[in-house]
Amino acid sequence: MAVGVFDSGLGGLTVLEAVTQRLPEVPFVYFADSAHAPYGVRTAEDIYNLTCAAVERMWDEGCDLVVLACNTAAANALKRMQETWLPPEKRVLGVFVPMIEALTERKWGDNSPPREVAVKHVALFATPATVSSRAFQRELAFRAIGVDVEAQPCGGVVDAIEDGDEILAEALVNSHVEALKRRMPHPEAAILGCTHYPLMQKTFQTALGDGVTVYSQAALVAASLADYLTRHPDMVGPGTERRFLTTGDPARVSSKAVQFLRRPITFEKA
Ligand code: DGL
Repeated sequence: MAVGVFDSGLGGLTVLEAVTQRLPEVPFVYFADSAHAPYGVRTAEDIYNLTCAAVERMWDEGCDLVVLACNTAAANALKRMQETWLPPEKRVLGVFVPMIEALTERKWGDNSPPREVAVKHVALFATPATVSSRAFQRELAFRAIGVDVEAQPCGGVVDAIEDGDEILAEALVNSHVEALKRRMPHPEAAILGCTHYPLMQKTFQTALGDGVTVYSQAALVAASLADYLTRHPDMVGPGTERRFLTTGDPARVSSKAVQFLRRPITFEKA
């Protein structure tokens, strides 16, 4: 029994940590497409093709269910994968849905008309490809009325994090928050719509101020996956091993991963 967790690079490890804590008995296979990261500056077509190739690779590891722990892939590829590509016995879930459910305080399958929600001014920080997909705003508009979303494409942040350059990442986060606040001076909530960004959560929170609620995607995804597996226990695939796979250089990726998570992780070549 194994479940796949996919990201373009190391960001999805923030989600992996949360799901592993929540579901310690499930062996997770983590796949980092480091050779092609960052995805956030790629076209939707490119992101779709790369994500499909990674998911297929995880099927070989016995993962019938794969979680896209990458907002860029979820925003640009997930719908098309589910509608046109995925065989009936496989499932792919994204990180977007639990976030929208939390913000709108309703379940995804609730098709009642959109209604007012508590939060009115939301700041969305995400990669350029996620922002330009407008997937977040579209899904929100089906469910909530009167919510003003201001999205900030955070160019460069994923590269800085992948390179382990914390100082640059911090400077970029501060300037992106400043840019957003010029357009929305008083957001009530901020969504870190990229799984790399929780690694910079403190910087985001400090730059935004204490009054802003920063939504943590990892915990929401973990709770949602636990609920999904209770309802679909058959979707835990036949794989038995926990593995960390990368399309990049395993030694380099392993050493960067240690830097982030402060514990050793050994990546193997995908
Ligand atoms: N962690 C990915 C996300 O959630 C990063 C995307 C990238 O590679 O630019 O969007």
